[in-house]
Amino acid sequence: MGNVCGGSSQAVDQHGKPLNKTPAPAETKTEAAKPAAAAPAAAAAPAAAAAAPAAPAAAAGVAPAAADKKLKVYIIFYSTYGHIEKLAREYKAALESTGDVDAQLFRVAETLPADALEKMHAPPKPDDIPVMETSKLPDADAFVFGFPTRFGMMAGQMKTFFDTTGALWQAGALHGKPASMFTSTATQGGGQETTLWTAVTQLAHHGMIYVPTGYAAGAAMFGVQDAKGGSPWGAGTLAGPDGSRQPSEVELEALRVQAKHFAGIAKKLAA
Ligand SMILES: Cc1cc2nc3c(=O)[nH]c(=O)nc-3n(C[C@H](O)[C@H](O)[C@H](O)COP(=O)(O)O)c2cc1C
Repeated sequence: MGNVCGGSSQAVDQHGKPLNKTPAPAETKTEAAKPAAAAPAAAAAPAAAAAAPAAPAAAAGVAPAAADKKLKVYIIFYSTYGHIEKLAREYKAALESTGDVDAQLFRVAETLPADALEKMHAPPKPDDIPVMETSKLPDADAFVFGFPTRFGMMAGQMKTFFDTTGALWQAGALHGKPASMFTSTATQGGGQETTLWTAVTQLAHHGMIYVPTGYAAGAAMFGVQDAKGGSPWGAGTLAGPDGSRQPSEVELEALRVQAKHFAGIAKKLAA
């Protein structure tokens, strides 16, 4: 019988090793049927009590880094029109400017057919940025996720990517790893905040540590004279109703502050 996350049918521990006792299908089903009456640990993953991460606190986390070892940060994004891609490249540069981070860019797989993308006037994908393979996620010490909004929530392409991480969830492979996020919307009220806070569910279920920016960017966040993206939840840009607006300097400055803040937190967690 498979598990709720679509991973292998073999129950595994935090390190991906098979558990000693694989429950009989009926046993697993029984646990799934009584979440309220189950012990707290089982209730946390009612449909797969035996398959769920057994001891999240002891899971992967950020491996203690040697003083001279750079943190490996994966910046994983989806972008149709290039705004998020531009922010991702800026984020990488800002992370690496700290001297503490080796940042690598990845995009998630496109899920729309070519003819749909053509009708949307979407440009080709950048060929210098590889598509992320789910199995490589545990290699990173920390993550940055970037995605545009779709009706106030993350783009489906990004959600589809997260939907491929069930086996990693089962193994607790991303537990304790820090993550930050950024987004793009067409308009100022179009979902800068909702897109990021609804995405926190993905991090929470994996046990990742969400690192918001708060108001660390100071002046770059407080101005109200000009339209701008970004929020305490993470950096952002406004693409404009026709997609022609490009990230402004104030948006990019807030993004750089976020990147440096995130690098500092990730480094502390790795110490
Ligand atoms: C199906 C669809 C839904 C969208 N929903 C919203 C929305 O709710 N609010 C908004 O401001 N922009 C919305 N947009 C605009 C996109 O967020 C915008 O094109 C994107 O932020 C640009 O980022 P990119 O250049 O990285 O693709 C939507 C676009 C599409 C195609």
